[in-house]
Amino acid sequence: SPKCRSIAALVNRRLPAATIRLLRDLGRTGDELGLPVYAVGGFVRDLLLGVENLDLDLTVEGDGIFFAERFARAKGGRVRSHPAFGTAVVVLSDGSKLDVASTRLEYYESPGVLPTVERSSLRHDLYRRDFTINTLAICINSDRFGMVTDFFGGQQDIQQRTVRVLHNLSFVEDPTRVFRAIRFEQRLAFRIAPHTENLIRSALRMKVLDRVGGIRLFNELVLILNEQEPLGAVRRMAMLGLLPFIHPQLRLSPETERAMTESSRLLTWFRLLYLNDPCQQWQVYFLALCERLRDDEFQEACRRLSMPGRFVSQVFAHRHRALVMLETLQRRLKRAQDLRNSEIYDSFHGLPLEILLYLAARTKNDQVRRLVSLYITRLRHMRRELDGNALKELGLAPGPNYSRIMKRLLDARLDAEVGTAEEERTLARELIADAG
Ligand code: CTP
Repeated sequence: SPKCRSIAALVNRRLPAATIRLLRDLGRTGDELGLPVYAVGGFVRDLLLGVENLDLDLTVEGDGIFFAERFARAKGGRVRSHPAFGTAVVVLSDGSKLDVASTRLEYYESPGVLPTVERSSLRHDLYRRDFTINTLAICINSDRFGMVTDFFGGQQDIQQRTVRVLHNLSFVEDPTRVFRAIRFEQRLAFRIAPHTENLIRSALRMKVLDRVGGIRLFNELVLILNEQEPLGAVRRMAMLGLLPFIHPQLRLSPETERAMTESSRLLTWFRLLYLNDPCQQWQVYFLALCERLRDDEFQEACRRLSMPGRFVSQVFAHRHRALVMLETLQRRLKRAQDLRNSEIYDSFHGLPLEILLYLAARTKNDQVRRLVSLYITRLRHMRRELDGNALKELGLAPGPNYSRIMKRLLDARLDAEVGTAEEERTLARELIADAG
């Protein structure tokens, strides 16, 4: 039988008031329906660790969909349910989401396919989970609010900072757990237990990852590369021999490692400057990781990860253009040629931020890095005053001169030939007169 203790005090101390109110409300709905309701998984793990996680997962001992519908009706929320799995998502009026599961037992009839689901007890529900640290449940019904259920020693493993599977077939049943083990270990500064690590190695020897579909593999990789500091996890992936499952030639060479470290530095710099500019961190790291792959190998890796074709050809084209650009710039800088701002602008314009950051991370040339940073911080934001209509009002006849003159006006801005609106207007008049 599980050890029971109450962590109601911890709940009240660590969670925001709104979350506590939500938990209490959910518990009351459970009371009314006579259903035991538990907060489970990562939410409980992180609560015990003192790590913020407002991603609430619930397990209902009984019909979770019925529970979700009742709760949503009372709160004016909506429910998306998946009867085949006994699960539901409640979307509350403020847009926040709750995952609700019913206690159930899943059978993996063969590795890598969706499980068959059957009703069962809380213990069975928790037993099918990946690691002991994710098997804790807190009851939220009013009379037992804050009671922890710990069937598998999750509290001890959290205390000892250990990632441990529940049984020997865990990685064979769900090979994506290999990635998850590494992700938790690195994010939480835990250690994968020695026996668990052996199970990972033997699962990899059995090539279980070859049976995982590209999309699932891709998702796991993105989750890792989107972690705050992914380099540790990538090192661990290399150490355990995971990288060849993405591409046989994928290695963590000193160069790749350097590119990834630089990526981390640049991403931090970028985020501090541009909090609101969306930038897909994983893309920068992915490009850095694939640094040593030839073009055809890079494309094979993308295909293994089932990246959408359009996306791949775009990333590929950009990566190609960026590398050519890098060489051109380095050559010119070596010949000590001065680059005008308008030329720098033309070099980088149209490249996504992710590619620019990759470029800066990859180059060993400080001057090139400074050019990229000049473009990101200043040049990419620069604009002309005058648009096509303004040129028309100044008397420019219809024709190809429009785009040429507008480009010329922007170049003049970039190269500080004009500074004010009036100067730009004067230049525009001259250019129009020349064109006429
Ligand atoms: N789970 C699992 N095997 C998987 C994926 C998930 O057993 N391949 C279980 C885990 O026990 C986890 C729960 O499903 O606690 C919810 O999954 P997820 O939301 O991915 O886990 P979190 O622990 O919340 O992870 P994160 O902090 O990264 O959101």
